[in-house]
Amino acid sequence: MKQKSREIRALLAALRERHYHFVTPTPATHARVLANRKKRYAVDLRDVFGWSLPFAPEAIDAALLTTLRDNNLLDEEGGRFRSRVRVSTLDDDLFAHSAFPTTQNDAVFFGPDSYRFVRFLQQTLPALLPRKRLVDIGAGSGVGAITAARVTQARAILTDINPLALSFAYANWSEAAPGEADFVECSGLSGVTGDVDLIIANPPYIADPDHRAYRDGGGMHGGELSFTWAHQAARRLERGGAFLLYTGSAIVNGEDKLKAALFDALSGFDITYREIDPDVFGEELEREDYADVDRIAVVGLVAVKR
Ligand SMILES: C[S@@+](CC[C@H](N)C(=O)[O-])C[C@H]1O[C@@H](n2cnc3c(N)ncnc32)[C@H](O)[C@@H]1O
Repeated sequence: MKQKSREIRALLAALRERHYHFVTPTPATHARVLANRKKRYAVDLRDVFGWSLPFAPEAIDAALLTTLRDNNLLDEEGGRFRSRVRVSTLDDDLFAHSAFPTTQNDAVFFGPDSYRFVRFLQQTLPALLPRKRLVDIGAGSGVGAITAARVTQARAILTDINPLALSFAYANWSEAAPGEADFVECSGLSGVTGDVDLIIANPPYIADPDHRAYRDGGGMHGGELSFTWAHQAARRLERGGAFLLYTGSAIVNGEDKLKAALFDALSGFDITYREIDPDVFGEELEREDYADVDRIAVVGLVAVKR
């Protein structure tokens, strides 16, 4: 984990020096933008590290090319290069994640959900202070843990089932430097020991036929993993402990079944639950297994144990 993360940090430092900025859109928007521009090769840093376009060696400065080469971050395709890593900005931070398209099973996620997750945490955490030890389940790039650690000053534990995600998270965390953290490769909370008083999560919430770890939320139209993590959080937290879940819920015939399941899993908690966005990833509804779904809503749940 540490070797890979050293390589990624070298790139983040080089991009910070060059005042790089890029906000990552959804995969569907990304594909449309590339199609609209009919651009085949990168001409600037945003093309290389944001739009993941192939590039000729002269498209970037020699020092940056050396950083990419020395740190094993390049693929070569017919005399052109392609960065294996994408980099996005959120406020003053840089986040490394996987290049587009994220077709591999171990792709490291960062996208519009990450931006919304961060805003959800920033809005809800100030009312829950103080906190001593937090867990970000399925931390991915580490963006949620970094945000929560800054707001709460709590020690963080970042878990993920994908070891590559933990390498990226370690690099992003080290660059952002919000405090002390542990990185645990495990499913859910299974590898976390000791007391925790805050659990946050942005789980996969799509029923993904390709079963990619960053995307596939399992049964219940992708809601199963959210339910499982809520169950685990309910068992782990003591009185006053808080669980913050940002997730997607497939609304079927006007009914939010995930909401009912989460309230059930979190009996004994004071809960607030609201829709953050009524309609995301509408293109998923073209699939047969979503035929009975009205819409996918993004929801935010805050649960505090009584
Ligand atoms: C939608 S991504 C969110 C990443 C990050 N929290 C964010 O907000 O950008 C979901 C993450 O959960 C991880 N994941 C999937 N199944 C998991 C499991 N059973 N246990 C722990 N992590 C898991 C994935 O590898 C991925 O990094």
